[in-house]
Amino acid sequence: MKGGETVGKLKIGFFDSGVGGISVMTAARRVLPDAEYIYYADEAHVPYGTKPHEEIIRYADEAVSCLASHGVDAVVVACNTATSIAIEYLREKYDLPIIGMEPALKPAVRSHPNEKILLCATPVTIAGEKLHHLIEKSGAEPTLVPLPGLVAFAEQGVFDKETVCEYLAEEIGNERDFAAVVLGCTHFSFFRDCFRELFGERVDIVDGNVGTVKRLVSVLGDKIDDCCAESGSVRYFISGEEADSGKIVLFESLAARYERVLNI
Ligand code: DGL
Repeated sequence: MKGGETVGKLKIGFFDSGVGGISVMTAARRVLPDAEYIYYADEAHVPYGTKPHEEIIRYADEAVSCLASHGVDAVVVACNTATSIAIEYLREKYDLPIIGMEPALKPAVRSHPNEKILLCATPVTIAGEKLHHLIEKSGAEPTLVPLPGLVAFAEQGVFDKETVCEYLAEEIGNERDFAAVVLGCTHFSFFRDCFRELFGERVDIVDGNVGTVKRLVSVLGDKIDDCCAESGSVRYFISGEEADSGKIVLFESLAARYERVLNI
């Protein structure tokens, strides 16, 4: 920082179709607790994972435009589906660092070369070109399973293990001998306990949250050192409107749930 210059707080925007990105933001708050966070949940349009591409691009544009209007230093597209479809459009349009997410297949293959990997995501991510390039480059042949029902469960606050495990078993079938399960949708990170229950102790459950936060830290670079060491804050927006206190309590309870299931 140059002498005499006042430095504002580091402001980071997070965006997802709904509550999923809260898992990523919670991971970021562990590493950058002093930053000011703005979280945009596009609950008017969730789920993205079954929508046409043009719609997803339009909604992602509205979200980033709202975050940009709040003067954020960077935007994290905390949504694999929006990244898969809209990241190039957003990077071209906005003069801001925009960090995207992709299913964490690379780290899973690195830890489990030549072993069986299950990759779960939304139907749009699974059908997307980006994932197919990622798979080609990885040299692996993961089993792909779309789990749109988990997005609905997270949005409705359904975390009952029995209900969720029954759904997972129905969609995934009988195979249990995977070395790693990649959670390729940010909503899925709230259900680590259910995946653990289904696949047992030995399976490695991998999401892209820590990798995304590392990328965020590296993109922010020197701005982090310049950030004043005050306590951080979060403001939540729902499709452009500031969230009321009831919603904030709900969002904070999801952050707490993420922390609870993180090491399961
Ligand atoms: N959380 C999102 C993702 O990571 C999308 C969920 C949805 O809206 O379908 O893909």
